[in-house]
Amino acid sequence: MSGLQKSIHIKTFGCQMNVFDSDRMESILVKQGYRREADLAQADVLLINTCSIRAKSEQKVLSLLGQLKPLKEKYPKKVIGITGCVGQRMGRSLLQRVPHLDLVMGPDGVERVGELVEEVLTRGRRVLETTFDNQKERSYSQPAVIDKVRPSEYLTVMKGCDHFCTYCIVPFVRGREKSRPIEELLEDVRRLVDRGAKEITFLGQNINTYGKRTGESLAALVDLTNSIPGVERIRYVTSHPRDLGTDLIEQFGRVEKLCPALHLPFQSGSNSVLKRMARLYTREEYLEKVAALRAACPDIALSTDVIVGFPGETEEDFEQTMDVIRDVRFSGAFLFKYSPRPGTRAHEFGDEVPDSVKTERLAHLQDVCFGKIKEENQAMEGQIVSCLVEALDKKGRYYTGRTPHGKLVHVLNAGEACVGKILDVEVSEGSASNLKGYYVGAPRQNRVGEAAKAVPA
Ligand code: SAH
Ligand code: SF4
Ligand code: F3S
Repeated sequence: MSGLQKSIHIKTFGCQMNVFDSDRMESILVKQGYRREADLAQADVLLINTCSIRAKSEQKVLSLLGQLKPLKEKYPKKVIGITGCVGQRMGRSLLQRVPHLDLVMGPDGVERVGELVEEVLTRGRRVLETTFDNQKERSYSQPAVIDKVRPSEYLTVMKGCDHFCTYCIVPFVRGREKSRPIEELLEDVRRLVDRGAKEITFLGQNINTYGKRTGESLAALVDLTNSIPGVERIRYVTSHPRDLGTDLIEQFGRVEKLCPALHLPFQSGSNSVLKRMARLYTREEYLEKVAALRAACPDIALSTDVIVGFPGETEEDFEQTMDVIRDVRFSGAFLFKYSPRPGTRAHEFGDEVPDSVKTERLAHLQDVCFGKIKEENQAMEGQIVSCLVEALDKKGRYYTGRTPHGKLVHVLNAGEACVGKILDVEVSEGSASNLKGYYVGAPRQNRVGEAAKAVPA
């Protein structure tokens, strides 16, 4: 890179895959000589890594771009770029619509971010990179280039999705499923733990089918990772109820480092809605998987995603969703109002549920669902949980971490020295969103399978 060292800031929206991609882009640019800048407004190069999953996710990005206009007018040399799923979906039209934007690229451009930014800087050109590898029969290689390792790290093992649920934009912006070779992933895991990672979360939009075109499997990846020294905890997201096979289910009762927690979106409790969503399972099949998971691992913590107000959803359909929420006892949930996405099949369904009804259903669902989670968390008051301390929370108040079951914990007496340690935390308060508590005793390198101990009275 020529001239003075330029600074870079990446702002991330969306799912864990975007977090992983942002880390990689940052690492690539730092290797190329850029310096990290914590303040978005100060950076010479500002990249916004974006999400298209709901209309609201896109509106956030467009409104941030609007706010940045005066900054670009004041400092015309500042480079502003959109990366990720909105870049892929809107492409050229975004460049046309936002004249102060210098770069638009999609998720497949991550590896080339260095050259694309250089092209803007050295040639003074606006750059568009949304070419997209849409072939089916392929794997891809992408060793993680991460220069800053956290106690809990994400590792993307595959990209794309072959499912085409009728509401979902992901297959359009991330393409078909492609998996990375298993040896490359194990090598990445070894490098991450050598540099301080304790917990690895494998990422894929449809992770249960990892390796389906290369003869590998998620079960094998989990088993092999379990035998890597230094790995303390293993997780993966996101599972699809249809693709969660018995090999994966039985691992929850057997594999020592696999955390007793699984995110298993059910989306709707109504079979007719599930059918129109093209989810490929029924409510009964979903409940059977839940029962099998609990048989394999009785204390497994299940979390889920739900969409309310899908086209044609009746009051009766919605009640069936409520029933699943009441019956299953989820430990965590993401609840959404259906948002029509242009280009998806459901967008053409018509029969839209009025927004006021969606809002009402969502509020009802939130009340019941978060009420149950609050009860579960309050029941943990007085217990000792094991917590891998990850970082200071966003407001800089407490160090936070997670239990093996995936519960967020605010460790009220932890300091910087606790980061990366696994602590025994006595829960003093449980709420709908987290546990609060104080760590007791010395940090220990425990295994996830250890049950929480009750505090002697
Ligand atoms: N691959 C994962 C996650 C997909 S996106 C999976 O299959 O579960 C995360 C969640 O966003 C989905 O589970 C779904 O609940 C929600 N979502 C996706 N598209 C949506 C839309 N158009 N409107 C509202 N919520 C949506
Ligand atoms: Fe979207 Fe369905 Fe694929 Fe999940 S499985 S990413 S909801 S198409
Ligand atoms: Fe959003 Fe793209 Fe992830 S649409 S949820 S950032 S794959």
